[in-house]
Amino acid sequence: MNLEELTKELAVIQDEILTKIKASEAIPQLNDIKVAYLSKKGPLKDLQTKLPTLKPEEKITFGQKINAAKSTIQSAYDKRQEELHLQEVNLRKDKNWIDVTIPGKKISIGHLHPITQLRREAENIFMNMGFEIVEPRSIDTDYNVFEALNIPVGHPARDMWDTFWTTNGYIPITHTSAMQHTILKEHDLPVRAIVPGRCFRQEATDATHEHTFYQIEGVYVDKNITLSDLIGTLKTFLSAFYDRDVQLRIQPSYFPFVEPGLEIMIDCAICKGKEGYCSTCRGKRWIELVPAGPIHPNVLTMAGIDPNEYSGFAWGMGLDRLVMIKYGIEDLRWFHSGDLRFLQQF
Ligand code: DAH
Repeated sequence: MNLEELTKELAVIQDEILTKIKASEAIPQLNDIKVAYLSKKGPLKDLQTKLPTLKPEEKITFGQKINAAKSTIQSAYDKRQEELHLQEVNLRKDKNWIDVTIPGKKISIGHLHPITQLRREAENIFMNMGFEIVEPRSIDTDYNVFEALNIPVGHPARDMWDTFWTTNGYIPITHTSAMQHTILKEHDLPVRAIVPGRCFRQEATDATHEHTFYQIEGVYVDKNITLSDLIGTLKTFLSAFYDRDVQLRIQPSYFPFVEPGLEIMIDCAICKGKEGYCSTCRGKRWIELVPAGPIHPNVLTMAGIDPNEYSGFAWGMGLDRLVMIKYGIEDLRWFHSGDLRFLQQF
């Protein structure tokens, strides 16, 4: 072959490669083309082997032509590679496109039970008044639940509570008053403590009775404590809890561990004393809320405190009832129902 023929052949091969490069649709295919045409067994190498048949100056000219062809092919290859790469990136972008303006899906998480919410609120109010918080035991002894509270075995007052007993003589606590003795015996005086906790009774369940309920017991012992300290403390607490100036009315009651026993009532904020039936106070205008009283001297003595030197008061309020009145809930059974229609309102 002479120079002219070789040059034509080169042009044909170059065109062929360039056409294939342009037509390639993916990078692997493009690479295959490159390997096929530029490798040792490719058509260009083939042409190169024919160089020795040319005259010396023709060799130089043809060598240059081959090199020019190679560099044209290389730039066509680079260009196509870039294009294919971009194409692939754009394709992926389209496929995995995220619309960040779509509103997110709301993940609903729960919240604290209304009784827990208000127990914490009550604890905060009492803590601000200088009370410490003591947890009750869930199961306690006859001594702590009754005897140390001036209710010996056989005392008729035991019938005031429908107490559960374990088969070996322990008590799932009937009331949070069960902690009174421990607090009075173990704390230095003066003592101010509240006992928020869960209590259990063998109740026939209805709108106002549950086998499981919550109380907040309070104990305050110091020198010269009088009934007015009791009234002032509870009025301050109840006014803070209900966020209004609560009015109190006090009537006598009976509990063996206080003397005298009292029932503290608050004015009904639902009917505000107006005419007509009110389901919260049942038309009485006053709501019995906190049984309380000055601590009985026997209770102080049993805890090793001299009743001639110290005096104090105690109360035991039903937390469920406090919450019911705050939110106008008419049936106690909602609290344990687990019904979201009820719970989501708080
Ligand atoms: N423990 C009583 C009950 O559950 C309530 C009570 C009344 C507690 C008078 C007191 C109190 O501390 O002084 O029925």
